[in-house]
Amino acid sequence: MRLLLQNGEASRAAKVARQRCRDSCKAWRSRGDDPNFPKYESEAPRLFLRPLDAMSTVYLNGEYIPKDRATISVDDRGFLLSDGIYEVTPAYQGRLFRMERHLRRLQHGLDALRIEYDSAGLPDMHARLIAENSLDSEDIAIVYLQITRGVAPRTHHFPPDRTAPTVYAFAQAFHRPESARWKRGYEAITVPDHRWDRVDIKSIGLLPNVLAQQAAVEAGVEDALLVNDGVALEGSHNNVFAVLDGVVTTHPATHRILHGVAREYVIELAHSQGIPVEERPVLLEEMRGADEIFFTGTTTEVRPTVRLDGESVGNGKVGPVTQELYEAFIAGTQVEASVA
Ligand code: PDD
Repeated sequence: MRLLLQNGEASRAAKVARQRCRDSCKAWRSRGDDPNFPKYESEAPRLFLRPLDAMSTVYLNGEYIPKDRATISVDDRGFLLSDGIYEVTPAYQGRLFRMERHLRRLQHGLDALRIEYDSAGLPDMHARLIAENSLDSEDIAIVYLQITRGVAPRTHHFPPDRTAPTVYAFAQAFHRPESARWKRGYEAITVPDHRWDRVDIKSIGLLPNVLAQQAAVEAGVEDALLVNDGVALEGSHNNVFAVLDGVVTTHPATHRILHGVAREYVIELAHSQGIPVEERPVLLEEMRGADEIFFTGTTTEVRPTVRLDGESVGNGKVGPVTQELYEAFIAGTQVEASVA
């Protein structure tokens, strides 16, 4: 490439680059990965989410419309002030999984932000988005929902009461990693937690999470473990667990972590498998000495970490507790999906 450019054949170089990009994008697309990140060579930054095309049906303020027709005002308080919240709900074979938990967390955020919105129609709206995008036949899909305080001239204080919230949602296929890949385990780095003090609210203001995950991507690893005052809290977009002397240990559901629906599910699974669970702050030093570490989340499910900051976790292999919980997780979502 450099040689071509030295010869002044920039357009030929660009053509070669474009073709390379096309080839790698094609390969990625066939695996359901996102072709918008062709410059990365490691697998870390690639999402397991299939990109939306312009014709996907999205929901915006009561309407189901093609994505390329969905526009919002530049005065939207979500855009100007990150004044809003979001949810990501999974659907297994078209069936929404633990929707009531996601709705409960959404209501917690709406109440905390004092946004008035009647969420009664949300299950139907989610189901319709899945159906209209032919995602019922997908093993896994997710619905992203965002509610902001609406459109109003920019002020720090709330706009007039009559201001309607902006409600936007889209649905997207999600691909679980191949089992052989999962069994090799994943890597994480630790990153200082620069977030605010109410991360139990699923705010759309995610700048510290974005920077933390970007640090992981640049390090060529999958997850970023956020650490505050020596305590390992959670990931940039998932919760974290350590297995310490056989006890599945994770930070309690306080204002310092997001109360993950997958986290809660994994705790229930551990109880039902007879695996002891403890909810307490876990020091980073304890994490470093853990037998096993794994992350949980809607787009993470149960993801084992076999190296933390370049050092092996336990024996450097996916551990038996993580394996057991992952299998129970997959089986459980299949059972829930098959219930009419
Ligand atoms: N993230 N912690 C953080 C900071 C999160 O952003 C998430 C979810 C979780 C796990 O929550 P749940 O198990 O309910 O998915 C924990 C979503 C998926 C996202 O931002 O896309």
